[in-house]
Amino acid sequence: MYAVSADVNDLETIKVPLDVNTNFSLQADKVCEALSADASIKLCYICSPGNPTAALIKKESIQKVLEHPKWNGVVVVDEAYIDFSPEGSSLAEWVLEWPNLVVMQTLSKAFGLAGIRLGVAFSSPEICALLNNMKAPYNISSPTSVIANAAMEEANLAVMKQNRHKILVQRDRLKKQLPQVPGVGRFLGGADSNFLLVEILDKPEGKPDNAVALEVYETMAGKRGVVVRFRGKELGCTGCLRITVGTEDEVTRFLQEIRSVLQSIYSQSTSKSLSNGERINGETAQEASEIIA
Ligand SMILES: Cc1ncc(COP(=O)(O)O)c(C=O)c1O
Repeated sequence: MYAVSADVNDLETIKVPLDVNTNFSLQADKVCEALSADASIKLCYICSPGNPTAALIKKESIQKVLEHPKWNGVVVVDEAYIDFSPEGSSLAEWVLEWPNLVVMQTLSKAFGLAGIRLGVAFSSPEICALLNNMKAPYNISSPTSVIANAAMEEANLAVMKQNRHKILVQRDRLKKQLPQVPGVGRFLGGADSNFLLVEILDKPEGKPDNAVALEVYETMAGKRGVVVRFRGKELGCTGCLRITVGTEDEVTRFLQEIRSVLQSIYSQSTSKSLSNGERINGETAQEASEIIA
């Protein structure tokens, strides 16, 4: 989404990929090199935990970027999923120490309030003053404000925490039970978010395969009413689906459906995925990849 916003504003972006060989860790040295190479770079976005990796970025790596000896821009850490990470993972408090850091969070995820369109940025007074000067007047509507304030009341925070606990229990269950489904491979990335990234194989005990993953995604969404995300086109994510953790009933249903869909794909020799691997380079895969939420 940052790249889209940059594009709309006619700004160039430079991407430094996460290291797929070390479970999607930040290549802090490469980020620093990229920042050194172009003095016009103003902002450096880091997503922790990442989407779709579900992996937290090591604090030391972010510190390395913050301590860049020459670059004079702002590091923005997107913590949209931080409420699903272990206690103490957030860098929000670091803004007291680092005037060049902005930490962003949202009410869209753990609070389940995506509809009110509200997030929060923690930063130094200087950056906050800049943001206040830039923002449109009345940028937070009254309904949003009322709902957000209610969400912060103790009783409602307790509800959020209960819901989060239920999600974490189901995440543990998925981590145990999903690998037992024939055709499901390894989990990639981490488990620090409310979703998991998992490989789908060309056959039980086989290798990760985008065509099968795409067919699982399509069949689940189109015929079984269970929506997952196809992420096989992302760097280092061949054959991957991103599975959002649901309620106990939803996880039960998901596990049943994925088992049965994979079974039927493997049993049909005329299966779309097995007969026509090119589909993964076509529009369907492209469309599936573009659903970013
Ligand atoms: C990494 C990341 N940041 C931010 C957001 C957006 O949150 P919001 O609903 O506050 O715009 C998302 C939503 O999918 C996300 O994946």
